[in-house]
Amino acid sequence: MLACDHGYFMGPTHRLENPRKTIEPLLPYADTVAVTRGVLRTSIDPKWDTPILLRVSGGTSVLHEDLSDEGITTSMREAVRLNVSAVALSIFVGTTHEKQTLLNLGKLVDEGEEFGMPVMAITAVGKELEKRDSRYLSLACRIAAEIGVHLVKTYYCEEFSKVVNGCPVPIVVAGGPKLNTETDVFELAHNALEEGAVGVDMGRNIWQNDNPIAMIKAIRAIVHEKASVREASQIFNENKTTRSVENAIHA
Ligand code: 5RP
Repeated sequence: MLACDHGYFMGPTHRLENPRKTIEPLLPYADTVAVTRGVLRTSIDPKWDTPILLRVSGGTSVLHEDLSDEGITTSMREAVRLNVSAVALSIFVGTTHEKQTLLNLGKLVDEGEEFGMPVMAITAVGKELEKRDSRYLSLACRIAAEIGVHLVKTYYCEEFSKVVNGCPVPIVVAGGPKLNTETDVFELAHNALEEGAVGVDMGRNIWQNDNPIAMIKAIRAIVHEKASVREASQIFNENKTTRSVENAIHA
């Protein structure tokens, strides 16, 4: 899964300033693309048949200290009308708005059941990235599963298999902020899959890379072909170009 929903609270995120230019070249290699309805309407041609994961939570921005005060921004009827394949909502376990976001999730799952729409929960940590350990993520993923989601997106962490073992629904991992090297990204994806994740929902480590197509091809090989880190690096090197993505995106 290709995550491109960051603008819902981060605005024109670096290298996602023009969503169409970033997303379109990557669509042929993505199983699913995660976006908001605004980006779906404006920046993804209906000619593409890549399944859409629609972000339906929001209500805060990076300017606010507390990112947890989210509500549901897009109705289930609208998700059905947009013909998306699933909807996604963030929960903020352990925050001031824990209850609110968990009740939002319950409501979304109820509506999803009514309309036949799968729901994915995202175990968001806002600005508190240090929260991403197996104890916290196990708790958050399990709570999401108990509320009835079909899929959970969380972060990779040490002892990740504990998170997977405690969560009776499939888990995909986010990439998080851009890592130092491509190898770090391949290791994250590879280890997450080895330890039980069913896939990734990755954004910045793909499209903030100077070679986003090479990155998505390499990650795709890890997910679909069980490629090793070395094989993924080889795919990346074979597909990278010398042309700067900055020029391509802003051309
Ligand atoms: C923001 C999100 C992002 O979609 C998520 O973090 C995945 O993207 P990245 O790999 O860039 O972390 O859910 O809340």
